[in-house]
Amino acid sequence: MRIGIIGAGPSGLAQLRAFESAQRAGVNIPEIVCFEKQSNWGGMWNYTWRTGLDEFGEPIHGSMYRYLWSNGPKECLEFSDYSFDEHFGRPISSYPPREVLFDYIQGRIEKSNARDFIRFNTAARWVSFDEDTQQFTVVLDDRANDRTYTEVFDYLVVASGHFSVPNMPHFKGIEDFPGTIKHAHDFRGADPYIGRDLLLIGGSYSAEDIGVQCHKYGTKSVTLSYRSQPMGFDWPKGMEEKPLVTHFEGDVAHFSDGTSKRFDDVILCTGYQHNFPFLPSEYRLENNNCLYPDKLYKGVVFNEQPRLIFLGMQDQYFTFNMFDAQAWFARDVMMGTIALPEKAERDKDIAKWLAKQDAIETPNDDVDFQTAYTRELVDSTDYPDFNLEKVAELFKSWLQDKEEDILRYRDKCYTSVVTGTKAAEHHTEWMAALDDSMECYLSDEEELKKQKAS
Ligand SMILES: Cc1cc2nc3c(=O)[nH]c(=O)nc-3n(C[C@H](O)[C@H](O)[C@H](O)COP(=O)(O)OP(=O)(O)OC[C@H]3O[C@@H](n4cnc5c(N)ncnc54)[C@H](O)[C@@H]3O)c2cc1C
Ligand SMILES: NC(=O)c1ccc[n+]([C@@H]2O[C@H](COP(=O)([O-])OP(=O)(O)OC[C@H]3O[C@@H](n4cnc5c(N)ncnc54)[C@H](OP(=O)(O)O)[C@@H]3O)[C@@H](O)[C@H]2O)c1
Repeated sequence: MRIGIIGAGPSGLAQLRAFESAQRAGVNIPEIVCFEKQSNWGGMWNYTWRTGLDEFGEPIHGSMYRYLWSNGPKECLEFSDYSFDEHFGRPISSYPPREVLFDYIQGRIEKSNARDFIRFNTAARWVSFDEDTQQFTVVLDDRANDRTYTEVFDYLVVASGHFSVPNMPHFKGIEDFPGTIKHAHDFRGADPYIGRDLLLIGGSYSAEDIGVQCHKYGTKSVTLSYRSQPMGFDWPKGMEEKPLVTHFEGDVAHFSDGTSKRFDDVILCTGYQHNFPFLPSEYRLENNNCLYPDKLYKGVVFNEQPRLIFLGMQDQYFTFNMFDAQAWFARDVMMGTIALPEKAERDKDIAKWLAKQDAIETPNDDVDFQTAYTRELVDSTDYPDFNLEKVAELFKSWLQDKEEDILRYRDKCYTSVVTGTKAAEHHTEWMAALDDSMECYLSDEEELKKQKAS
């Protein structure tokens, strides 16, 4: 049996790790090939300074930016088979910056021979399925050697992420706006916005985090324009929320409450599309960013074609540990350890989750939903159990912390459900921590003082 994986971000790596763990337990695993269009693994966490196209003319995948710190406590995403304590050898704070989380993701996978399974600089271009052989043919593009070729697989795992292709709505008059306009996907840090008046359109995580980062680094004013509802945080002086932009006149944006303001720059924080240009239309997911994408049994197995697996396609409270739970489940489906029920049963199960999703009213309901979903997966495989229900409590405290102080919630310390270790206080308060490098993050306070003095 041959298994193809598209993408070596946290989800694709979770799939490789799931097979490796079976192999360590003495199970014969299938032949696996993972295709990654970037030159390294880590997906979103593999920072790139580039925007637009990469060195091979490939659309840039990365949407992460400089000075990005985790927006949820690390205790909520910890792998249950590889703790932060094991990786760093000492407690670290609850909200590490990107480079530190990238290092943690790498730490687990570097202990295996996973790199041997991955073909880097290789983009999946097209997938077709042969009903007679029950196999997929994947057309691949080896960008470094400018060579296309095909490979045949019995199962295909799509782990290509869904926070990469921007949703770019049009606003009347925006084409005449004289300042810079970009989507959050192309934002690479607050530096260009220092001393400027910035408009962010969108009312979710990107708008919140880019807005707060820009405020922290010295943007003169940050205006957040929402469509459905305000985020409603107690914003500091220099940040404010307004309802949706109705139109632009030159450098002035008009809002639906009748007010207007002049801006230097606009960033569209309007979310991302689920985009699968390499899949024929009948295999594509068409949902927006939601907790339970339609068509996926257990949020993983494509119901119309169960040899097609999707990982990480949900909106995410849980991340790395949920991808693990999905990957372990997918592994057992592919290896036949978990027998899939008939399609009608699977349809019913999907309908059950979709109905539960429809009943969600609050962010706490979101958390409970994703906890119950992940719990079901964890219980169905040998993925090391962890106290998901406790993690749900941490998420709810995190939501509360943000309500209390959107600028300082990252200074809180949580306790790991994997090791019982309480996070260390970071040596610098988040609002004063301008250097997000791993070197600075891991250096101790005395060392920092010495560096500052010299
Ligand atoms: C700005 C931003 C900040 C975030 N911050 C956090 C955070 O603080 N905490 C958190 O837990 N999560 C965060 N996330 C969520 C993040 O998406 C997940 O943590 C995680 O990266 C998802 O993993 P993934 O493997 O599913 O997708 P990705 O990380 O997107 O990886 C997908 C991989 O597939 C590859 N790929 C795509 N198409 C192809 C193709 N055709 N052929 C070959 N390879 C392909 C890509 O190059 C990429 O390496 C953030 C997301 C964004 C956008
Ligand atoms: N530091 C960090 O860790 C960090 C930073 C940034 C992002 N992230 C992650 O990145 C992921 C994506 O977050 P996101 O905020 O980019 O996407 P998102 O959560 O999907 O939110 C998209 C936002 O765009 C708005 N929108 C969509 N179309 C619009 C339109 N036509 N006009 C006005 N507004 C429109 C939506 O408004 P409605 O509510 O009206 O639909 C919503 O507020 C999340 O998982 C998040 O955790 C993390």
